[in-house]
Amino acid sequence: MDYKNIILQVEQWGAAIIFNRPKALNAMNAETLSEIQHAISVCKSDDIKVLILTGSGEKAFVAGADIREMQNLHPSEALAYMEMGHETMRMLETLPKPTIAAVNGFALGGGTEIALSCDMRFASENARFGQPEILLGSIPGWGGTQRLGRIIGMGRAKEIIYSGEQIDAKRAYEIGLVNRIYTVDQLFPEAVKFAEKLAALPSFALKMAKHSINFGYDMSLDNATRLEAQCCAQCFSMEDQKEGMSAFLEKRKPNFSGR
Ligand code: CAA
Repeated sequence: MDYKNIILQVEQWGAAIIFNRPKALNAMNAETLSEIQHAISVCKSDDIKVLILTGSGEKAFVAGADIREMQNLHPSEALAYMEMGHETMRMLETLPKPTIAAVNGFALGGGTEIALSCDMRFASENARFGQPEILLGSIPGWGGTQRLGRIIGMGRAKEIIYSGEQIDAKRAYEIGLVNRIYTVDQLFPEAVKFAEKLAALPSFALKMAKHSINFGYDMSLDNATRLEAQCCAQCFSMEDQKEGMSAFLEKRKPNFSGR
């Protein structure tokens, strides 16, 4: 597929999806969503260990869903638009490998929502987050009302969603929305450095950790710990578990193969 609004960069450690629609500060229209869906499918390959999402330029990660495209939607069309966004966010959230949003500027509305669908958020000092939909007479439609509260707590999520106010990287870090903050220049290289570190770890164990955390979240503790036990037990079918434990006991560095 030829991408018009994103760039898919494949590297040894994994891949980067770079939002690249500068004329609209990387706002996502339906065409961008379908390109992202395609790129995520490509990233399902076992050769790609980690996925980073970032924006081109220094001003915006993603300035939201495309307001021009949404403005005159009939409610039934709006529903289809929101469902397409949800499908995209869910594909990202359930991708069985680590995902990092490297947020380099405005991440508003759908921009915050796509960052919330990643496992971790690293931000540049000039990053700004927010759910400004209320200022447009609407509400977050790509998962913000659900995922934001799960990550920062319901009270803080309501404050952000009800007011439409933006928060800077420092505040986002304080409330646990952001894992790490870097200078603008360092953001992507540091995200890559972290991705390289993860890419060298046992990929199946990472997959099981993500599966257990994500799918256990909405279960009772009893069921969630059963799921965890099953995920943990499956790691014992892998050569990497034998290698990791042998290396520890033999006092040497492990050499993980991904098998
Ligand atoms: N949709 C469409 N176009 C957008 C856009 C968006 N979300 N955000 C920015 N743009 C466009 C602007 O219209 C402008 O285009 P023109 O040059 O053709 O006029 C261009 O990008 C540059 O934007 P600004 O001139 O506004 O740049 P600025 O530096 O003055 O402001 C900004 C930057 C604060 C990010 C501002 O652009 C802004 O507030 N954008 C909208 C943010 C927003 O409301 N996002 C939520 C969208 S709704 C949503 O996401 C719903 C959902 O949950 C699915």
